Amino acid sequence: RAKLPQHNTIDDAVSLLKKSRNIIVLTGAGISTSLGIPDFRSKETGLYSQLQHLGLGDPQEVFDISLFREDPSIFYSVAKDILPSSKRFSPTHAFIRLLQDKNKLLTNFTQNIDNLEGHAGIMPEKLIQCHGSFATATCIECKYKVKCEEIYKEMKAGRVARCDRCVRSIRQVKPGFKRKRSFNGSSGSRKRRQSYEDSTDDEDDDIAVAGVMKPDITFFGEDLPATFHDRLMDHDRDLVDLVLVIGTSLKVAPVSEVVGVLPHHVPQLYISREPCSHANFDIDLLGDCDAVVSELCRRAGWDLQHEMILED
Ligand code: OAD
Repeated sequence: RAKLPQHNTIDDAVSLLKKSRNIIVLTGAGISTSLGIPDFRSKETGLYSQLQHLGLGDPQEVFDISLFREDPSIFYSVAKDILPSSKRFSPTHAFIRLLQDKNKLLTNFTQNIDNLEGHAGIMPEKLIQCHGSFATATCIECKYKVKCEEIYKEMKAGRVARCDRCVRSIRQVKPGFKRKRSFNGSSGSRKRRQSYEDSTDDEDDDIAVAGVMKPDITFFGEDLPATFHDRLMDHDRDLVDLVLVIGTSLKVAPVSEVVGVLPHHVPQLYISREPCSHANFDIDLLGDCDAVVSELCRRAGWDLQHEMILED
């Protein structure tokens, strides 16, 4: 895609923002780093720079679905570091919300799995979580789905979370199972033990063969949610009048391909710390994204309300 000649400066960016009515905002990990959540590929601070101890050929393998099926403990040793632990959101999230409030937001395509868009008040119908999220988890064997909070305890401890339903059905078919259970009185109804820590060795064996729970984030080798493609190709492509790409290295396909499939006459802006070497944006606004969006709002005369210090 060739650059559009008429758009160059920050003031051009401001006038595009002011006149546009259907903006696609494509975001990545850079919009959450001001909250202390690491991105993936920043050299010193990105998650992938912290994983040498795992001895992987490529740190991205931590999100590789084949490796997860082979040895889920590798992912679970890292999952605790990327769990969404905050309800705070950054000024950049607030900026996207402001675009929504001004009826300018067509869609926020986010690659982030931290669910902070929801905390900022981005409406579900305006949000496509391209790489899924930590909201739910699914058993890779029986497809049983739970809210991720149900496996938080295991995740926070760095342990592989197993499927409760698989554990139950293993115990139902296992001979001798009843003798090992505790019963509450004479009614015959049995009481489930509350936590895996109380379990006997036999129960540990049951758990060890039960299906593994996988948070519903999109691993390398998995399809993106169908809504990603449907929304982009069947809805947004015909409506979009401005594209804002914020805080992503645009290195992961197919999200990286979004900018190429949109009509070429639609202006595209890039807000990030470093320029993107493999895509042509009309205007690069390089720097800290919170500072850049604040300046855009200041010049537009928009009131970007944001309280950085919100309680969790
Ligand atoms: P990256 O870590 O690849 O890129 C984040 C970009 O944001 C980098 O170019 C940083 O320079 C920039 N950045 C960081 N903090 C910033 C700030 N405060 N202001 C402006 N720019 C900042 O993260 P993503 O592009 O989101 O997939 O990565 C895409 C996907 O790769 C992720 O969704 C993840 C990963 O593998 C899965 O987990 C499946």
